[in-house]
Amino acid sequence: MILLTDVHKIYRAGKVEVPALAGLSLTVERGEFVAVVGPSGCGKSTLLNLVAGLDRPTRGTILVDGVDLTRAPEAALSRLRRERVGMIFQFYNLLPHLTARENVALPLLLNGTPTLQIAGRVEAELEAVALLGRGDHFPHQLSGGEMQRLAIARALAPRPALLLADEPTGNLDSERGGAILDLIRRLNRTRAFTVLMATHSPEAAAVADRVIRLRDGRLEIP
Ligand SMILES: Nc1ncnc2c1ncn2[C@@H]1O[C@H](COP(=O)(O)OP(=O)(O)O)[C@@H](O)[C@H]1O
Ligand SMILES: [Mg+2]
Repeated sequence: MILLTDVHKIYRAGKVEVPALAGLSLTVERGEFVAVVGPSGCGKSTLLNLVAGLDRPTRGTILVDGVDLTRAPEAALSRLRRERVGMIFQFYNLLPHLTARENVALPLLLNGTPTLQIAGRVEAELEAVALLGRGDHFPHQLSGGEMQRLAIARALAPRPALLLADEPTGNLDSERGGAILDLIRRLNRTRAFTVLMATHSPEAAAVADRVIRLRDGRLEIP
């Protein structure tokens, strides 16, 4: 599902070069739930952004769902993001002026889902995250846990093959965070999409099938 080979990412800020990933190789199987852990600044978000096709590596190759992200034209990357990859974040990144229902509908409008199917799909996704009664609420009218559940519904509405989660419990207390992890784990099992989750929480990493440790942009040798 995901294959990284000797991936380097160097950010340039003025004259300063920051090596965020320094020769990372990694394989994630289809359906697997993998947690990426490591201290702040070790390259977790950089890794997720590269796998999402939001940015390109400085060196090395990345294959996601059969697409070579290092060679694919920009249009192929945006298509991959629209159709095959869902993303969730620590601060939810919901659109504040859209209702819960509209937030979930948006990726379906963008990926060409037939209009007649959209309303039904939106209700099904809201139901899957136990937010059916919140469809007309705006994000600011939801709790943190509800906002993250809405973000999950939005990410999964296009039925992606891969869910990327960047510190999904980072802004939640341990009870709400635990509920979000259980939800992601359950949907990963029932719908069989792959999960790559960055976290620095040991409780979060514990729900994964496998844990990968990063340090200074490399795999940490145990
Ligand atoms: N856009 C950017 N420009 C310059 N440096 C960056 C940029 N994004 C991240 N970095 C640097 O790259 C390193 C890895 O960052 P990041 O991937 O965000 O780590 P993590 O998510 O593990 O905290 C850090 O040193 C960070 O400061
Ligand atoms: Mg990060």
